[in-house]
Amino acid sequence: MAATLPLIPDGLALDALADVLRGRDWATLALDPADARLQAAAAEARAHASAGRLLPAATGRADGRQFAGLRGDATLWLDDPACGPAARDLLAALEALRIEVNRRLLLGLEEVEAHFAHYPPGAGYARHRDRFRSDDARVLSLVVYLNADWPDGAGGELRLHLPDGPVDIAPRLGTVALFLSAEVEHEVLPATHPRYSVAAWFRQRPRR
Ligand code: OGA
Ligand code: MN
Repeated sequence: MAATLPLIPDGLALDALADVLRGRDWATLALDPADARLQAAAAEARAHASAGRLLPAATGRADGRQFAGLRGDATLWLDDPACGPAARDLLAALEALRIEVNRRLLLGLEEVEAHFAHYPPGAGYARHRDRFRSDDARVLSLVVYLNADWPDGAGGELRLHLPDGPVDIAPRLGTVALFLSAEVEHEVLPATHPRYSVAAWFRQRPRR
């Protein structure tokens, strides 16, 4: 698998995923911040944002779109024709991970969707779950952070609300957060710096 998935090393991702599925509900992975693909993804995210190609995100389903202050990020889907080679590489790595997870852990994950996200200073995302009430397709959420040299005290943490209390994850380049879309409530705390990430969801065939 290392040959097909250089960005997310074999054992690391599968061990973390096995943890998540064994009832811990979440995990983090540490990728090498010096990885050229990760740095290319970070550069591409910044370039799309400064060219205005990321658009304000909606929450909820198309039939009930809301912008009302719940989230302040702007996004661009990785399969958008405007995306470049780093986005295509990352999407291919996520797709390879989906296939490997299905093969080894027997989950019925049929597809992966992912977008770049940019939170300008002061923007956050209020507490929520990633699985919609009207659509149970999202099984596993994965966020890859793209911020080199994220300063302590800059905010911007992903806060997971867990039964034992909150866990905060700083959005540093190379950190990957994984959690169950239906279970884990979470929020994005506002930051003093522009905050870049790729958020991905592994999806099953919707049952409702
Ligand atoms: C989301 C989300 C978390 C993050 O896009 O649904 O919760 O840390 N993102 O960017
Ligand atoms: Mn979310």
